[in-house]
Amino acid sequence: MVNKVSTCVFISGNGSNLNALIKNSRSDNFPIKIVLVISNNPKSKGLKIAKKYKINTKLIEYKSNKNFENLALLELKKNNIRLICLAGFMKVLSGSFIKKFSYTIINIHPSLLPKFKGLNTHKRVLKSKDKYSGCTIHYVSPILDAGQIILQKKILIKKNETEKTLKKKILLLEHKAYAEAIISLFK
Ligand code: GRF
Repeated sequence: MVNKVSTCVFISGNGSNLNALIKNSRSDNFPIKIVLVISNNPKSKGLKIAKKYKINTKLIEYKSNKNFENLALLELKKNNIRLICLAGFMKVLSGSFIKKFSYTIINIHPSLLPKFKGLNTHKRVLKSKDKYSGCTIHYVSPILDAGQIILQKKILIKKNETEKTLKKKILLLEHKAYAEAIISLFK
């Protein structure tokens, strides 16, 4: 059994990456233990998933960046968190938050960064006529989707690909890639 890194996952939505991370982290050899899930959105399905696995959850509704970040920092400290995984978290964390937390923060993005930063990724990818798309796990910096890349996985875009089919395929890829990236960080 490895000495697991105390981890918090930040979410805003469906939580399929959270679900995959929880499942992975239940294995003895996976390097992280998810001890806390923070959501800025009360409707996030990920909150239900966390509760199902009896993981501590904290809903911090978004009033301002400062308010959210201060409350989040308190929770992180209380829970001795050493790693934050952003998984569909729809807010940009400030430089001050990153500095104050002072441990590792990573994010997953559904494109081959540095291409297609930001929202509506799959739509823009399809419009670009690129041959490949994929996902990226990267360190979080104060600039959106611009931190150092840890790992990428790619897939070929089919001729009849739609936003829906691409999203579905890339989400499955994300679930594998996030786990691999975490293993590579702590091996
Ligand atoms: C994923 O595509 C992730 O890369 C992006 O937001 C989506 C979140 O999906 N940042 P889920 O909530 O993990 O299902």
